Amino acid sequence: MRIPFIAGNWKMNLDRRSALELVEGLRRRVGERRDVEVAVFPPSVYLDEIARALMGSPIRVGGQNCCDEESGAFTGEVSATMLADVGAELVLVGHSERRHLYGEGDELIRRKVHAALDAGLDVILCVGETIEEREAGHTEQVVARQLRAGLEGISAPEMARVTVAYEPVWAIGTGHTATAAQAGEVHAYLRGLLEGLYSEPVAAATRIQYGGSVKADNAAELMAVTDVDGALVGGASLKPEAFLPIIEFSG
Ligand code: 13P
Repeated sequence: MRIPFIAGNWKMNLDRRSALELVEGLRRRVGERRDVEVAVFPPSVYLDEIARALMGSPIRVGGQNCCDEESGAFTGEVSATMLADVGAELVLVGHSERRHLYGEGDELIRRKVHAALDAGLDVILCVGETIEEREAGHTEQVVARQLRAGLEGISAPEMARVTVAYEPVWAIGTGHTATAAQAGEVHAYLRGLLEGLYSEPVAAATRIQYGGSVKADNAAELMAVTDVDGALVGGASLKPEAFLPIIEFSG
């Protein structure tokens, strides 16, 4: 039984005041719900304050990225241990914007997954193909490579702390969400890969979120797909009135 997991990736948006207002709005409405897991991913400079604002609430807080190294001369980087130190419980790794805008490759992403788990953080490992890759018929090949590389060396017990997010690059921030059928196909394929890499019970227990232009008006249809276990939401996670209906559809 996989509890739906709805995560809001704020990316580089909001300021301190609007971020606090947002979590106050979420906190009130999400209350003590246990039938759906909710997490927010603020910019790292606001993590500490947002984690404090959500203390005692079931809403979890995560970082959007972390360094693959633990500490040292890495100007501008933030380690997984530092994220955990200010109250993060999770981190996104391999988001398409990190892969495509900042050139992060599979090997770096693999090291980040290890660094995050070693620091005690849960991980959302993001995978997804570009439009060119989809049109060339390479979707499965691309997500398989990203999944295998990201999980290399991760044990079956550690998989209890890993969520996979399928985010087709062409659906992110474009308003062109994947259809339920397109998402269903890739999610089922990813679950099959997890079964091959680990076992049927691990594959059955791992949550696979869909991300890419999820909004209140398409969430119900996507969440109804068998292998879609939640959503990783960008734009629609920035306002309670946009994010709450997605959470409410999912529980
Ligand atoms: P949008 O919901 O804005 O398309 O962003 C999706 C995403 O990248 C979440 O990580």
